[in-house]
Amino acid sequence: MHIEMLPRFRLAQLPTSIERLERLSRELGGPELLIKRDDQTGLALGGNKTRKLEFLVGQALEQGADTLVTAGAAQSNHCRQTAAAAAKAGLKCELILSGQKPELPNGNLLLDELLGAKCHWTERSELPVELSKLPEQLCAQGHKPYVIGIGGSNGVGATGYVLATMELAEQLRAIQQRVDHIVFASSSGGTQAGMVLGARIAEFAGRLHGVSVDKDDLEREAYEEEVAQIANECAQYIGADIRLATQHIKVVYGYTGEGYGIVSNLEREAIRLMARREGIILDPVYTGRAFGGLLDLIRKGVFKRGETVLFWHTGGTPALFAYAQELA
Ligand SMILES: Cc1ncc(COP(=O)(O)O)c(C=O)c1O
Repeated sequence: MHIEMLPRFRLAQLPTSIERLERLSRELGGPELLIKRDDQTGLALGGNKTRKLEFLVGQALEQGADTLVTAGAAQSNHCRQTAAAAAKAGLKCELILSGQKPELPNGNLLLDELLGAKCHWTERSELPVELSKLPEQLCAQGHKPYVIGIGGSNGVGATGYVLATMELAEQLRAIQQRVDHIVFASSSGGTQAGMVLGARIAEFAGRLHGVSVDKDDLEREAYEEEVAQIANECAQYIGADIRLATQHIKVVYGYTGEGYGIVSNLEREAIRLMARREGIILDPVYTGRAFGGLLDLIRKGVFKRGETVLFWHTGGTPALFAYAQELA
């Protein structure tokens, strides 16, 4: 494995902390709950993309790029963190966002603008097309764009979560803490792919459960194949002699409600409970939904008393402010 030799641009405050959710664990009466605070990675209000971007920006700089180009939803955390990473690396940033430009930017979008990103607007279905067109235009203008796919989920980006999982395993060893399950939000797959690969490398014995925030059971096969493919691409990138298949990828479905980014009681209850018992803020799109799923699994008795479950907080909190109406 040559992970230490790969191009990397440091962006994150690491390691992120692990905390015990004592009041919540007691109240729920199920497994002991821990949380890993990747909402505190330090780059422009934090989140999981910081770890991915260390390797993506590292590669962009190595290739002599002058502009980062990526795409996502109007409230994309990935876009906000890419804009921040570009600012720190001295690169320009162009974002392709789906939907209508609002009159007044809020949440992540406000931060995109403050961070100096240039935003282009299009339909959600047009994002991939625009993501191939814009770099051509930038090249024609003499720029050197580096394109980051949606969510930064490829073998390079997933490397950040290989290291994150190795970091976690090391922290757990140091405090002699067993973790039986890790639960987190899964969407474009790079986080899960990196974690599964990192868990293999670190010989972590617990199980990983990615709660899908945007796919239902019908998309199971395609999504799990995609995650396995990103993991294998990543294994090759870091020089690990490991191959993963769909049976190694555990995704939990059934919590997408009315669809991606549409807040329901599941997220509302999860956000309030975490805030009021532990003083920790979740987001409405990813971590609120994933933690809502975890609460449901605990209530259904999926995890046993005496087991330990770690909820991996992947960030996203700036989106809260764009959801004031749904949450207040
Ligand atoms: C806050 C947050 N959590 C989790 C995820 C899911 O990560 P991934 O897309 O790597 O599956 C995202 C992705 O956008 C996110 O913004």
